Amino acid sequence: MTLQLKKLKPFAQGGNRLCFVHPQNPERCIKVRRPDFTLADCRRKKGFPKNLRPLSYFDDNREEFRVMVGLERSYGESLFQHASRCYGFEASDMGKGLVSELIKDRNGRISQTLKKYIWDYGMTGAVQEAVRSLADFWLTECIPSRDLLLHNIVVQMSGEQIKRLVVIDGLGSSGLVSSRMFPPLFLRRKAQRRVDNLYNRIDLLLSQRGSGDFPGFHGELFHDGLPEAMTKAAGTE
Ligand SMILES: Nc1ncnc2c1ncn2[C@@H]1O[C@H](COP(=O)(O)OP(=O)(O)O)[C@@H](O)[C@H]1O
Ligand SMILES: [Mg+2]
Repeated sequence: MTLQLKKLKPFAQGGNRLCFVHPQNPERCIKVRRPDFTLADCRRKKGFPKNLRPLSYFDDNREEFRVMVGLERSYGESLFQHASRCYGFEASDMGKGLVSELIKDRNGRISQTLKKYIWDYGMTGAVQEAVRSLADFWLTECIPSRDLLLHNIVVQMSGEQIKRLVVIDGLGSSGLVSSRMFPPLFLRRKAQRRVDNLYNRIDLLLSQRGSGDFPGFHGELFHDGLPEAMTKAAGTE
């Protein structure tokens, strides 16, 4: 059955996708391509020679599904301590949507991103501890990922406590070769670079705190209407 999403309000959007609560399952979300930023727009934005690649190359949903199937096979259940589960595709009136585990706090609200959390509360002891445990996991398991962006990690709360950090976008490495083909030392170094980069991003955000608006709307949920930055500039980040 084709899910009707057009009539619903998304709870968030990223640079490429709109995220809806799954209309038939409140524990899942469904992500579709942003109609205002098509695959063709995405390809156009890339310079030469990337813009010569087929449109399917730019399809985040397709890539994410491929990556998640591979990672689940390699890492098993432990992966889902810090990554959202992926359930495959469903048809919708906005095209094929990728369904995944919706990360929510104990009070039922959709979890905020790490970016928003740090912006609002700073680098509290609790968030330091949570970041350390995500970083340890990344390094011990050598999880392949692109840069760990602060708006691609959500902070799941259990009451006043942070339960865990969950990466909801950006897993896997670009390219066709499975990461397991690389020697362990290479993978470890790569994971270390991702973790170093995560800490650099946190430092940068902390240095911007207190100086004006939340940087970019990515990571702001639409619980209470459109984030301010989006009403000002409906561009991409
Ligand atoms: N599984 C999820 N659970 C909770 N929030 C999510 C989930 N997936 C996405 N989000 C929210 O939606 C935003 C955009 O989703 P994302 O998958 O990063 O889209 P894009 O691929 O366009 O960057 C995220 O920054 C986050 O706030
Ligand atoms: Mg994202």
